Amino acid sequence: MATFSVHTYGCQMNVRDSELLARRLRAAGFADAPSEDEADVVIVNSCSVREKAEEKALGKLGMLCAARRDRPGLVVGLTGCMANRLGTDVFGLVPGLSFSVGPRAAGAAITDLVARGLAGERGLFLGDAARAADGAAGEANDAGADVPAGTSAPASFVTILYGCNQRCSYCIVPSVRGREESRDPRAILDEVRAEAARGAKDVTLLGQSVMRYGRMGFAWPEDLPSPMGFTEPLPRLLELIAREVPAVRRLRFTSGHPLGVTPELVRAMRELPAVCAHLHLPMQSGSDRVLKEMRRGYDRARYLDAVRLLREGVPDIAITTDVIVGFPGETEADFELTRSAMEEAAFDNAFVFKYSPRPGTPSAERPDDVADDEKRRRDQVLLADQDARGQRLNDRWIGRTVEVLADGPSLRNAARWSGRTEQNKIVVFEPVPGLARGDFVRVRVESAHPQTLFGAVIR
Ligand code: 5AD
Ligand code: SF4
Repeated sequence: MATFSVHTYGCQMNVRDSELLARRLRAAGFADAPSEDEADVVIVNSCSVREKAEEKALGKLGMLCAARRDRPGLVVGLTGCMANRLGTDVFGLVPGLSFSVGPRAAGAAITDLVARGLAGERGLFLGDAARAADGAAGEANDAGADVPAGTSAPASFVTILYGCNQRCSYCIVPSVRGREESRDPRAILDEVRAEAARGAKDVTLLGQSVMRYGRMGFAWPEDLPSPMGFTEPLPRLLELIAREVPAVRRLRFTSGHPLGVTPELVRAMRELPAVCAHLHLPMQSGSDRVLKEMRRGYDRARYLDAVRLLREGVPDIAITTDVIVGFPGETEADFELTRSAMEEAAFDNAFVFKYSPRPGTPSAERPDDVADDEKRRRDQVLLADQDARGQRLNDRWIGRTVEVLADGPSLRNAARWSGRTEQNKIVVFEPVPGLARGDFVRVRVESAHPQTLFGAVIR
């Protein structure tokens, strides 16, 4: 029996796709390799969002193909956004690559590609564009459809919206993930139910721009009413899942966009107990001039309004963000506006990215004129700010009792366990006898770090 290993880069959607590919391979009779070094098949699920992520994946693929000197039958495959971005050029960059398959086409094709790779074929390519041209588009060809059995982690993911129609000037996603396509709520419901049956208790609904769910080429099925009177598709979907799948005690959705923060969505977050007081809401910049050049569709005031609406409407909400430093033409004054907006928004956590020009995007036409050193400095300043802010915000949890979904022994110290709160804050605590992964426990918070709470289980 051949064994496989999947190596994942990039976003949660990739993490989910990797999980689904693994389940498909298991269902087809392949087994998980004890380690990547011992696998017969290694699949690299790649990300194109920044150049560094692509370099890492290419380096990895090159190393794997070179390892064939000692492991002659090794099958090396690529999936994810790079498969679409590079097309057949990838076989020039990585000679000996067995196959490359787009993220949407991968689900239906993976077992066949792996079998052909094991039979010695090389250079097989199936992009997502080919999938559409085949007329094979639709649920049945997606990684997310007819998900094979397997166990789910207590915190699991379900993709609800493929692609992205927004045209942020720096972003490669629309060109590698295709047009926006919302999944049918009944297919989503089935998948969430299946996840719950396999042990998932915390489910995050995924989409590159998740608040666009159901806004394009889509009609909500008439036989699915909204007793709470919602008219927008995302609140309706949240209500439907919360009502039909009570075993999913926590529901989240990501990533957000400030223009999607409608009064109705805020009401859904407040009134549906399963929907978590947590939102990842990328801001990207706090400067109106930069936001305009990024084509984000909002200005600083509009973004901060969305934050205010959320804080007023959803008690104890944690808001996290993404920010890019060193966008073309970003001045010191622009950067300071980002700093002050982050402080005003009082983010619980922030991911800071150094701008990376992506081929074919509008902003890549402009000179990448903020020096690397300066990007690094801005990155470090924002991270230091965030550390101080995270500490301040987390200190406010000391003395409170929080509900934690136990995830298992902590990575840093196996004698202690970690889990997450509704706000998605990591909590580290001493396990109590009989505690199992996937249990909800009440923890009294005793101390805090910028990104972690520490406490004791309350019986
Ligand atoms: N350079 C740097 N960061 C980027 N992101 C997207 N495109 C780029 C780019 N070209 C960041 C954004 C997005 C996150 C997933 O990656 O902040 O929210
Ligand atoms: Fe990229 Fe903008 Fe789409 Fe996010 S919303 S994936 S930043 S194009």
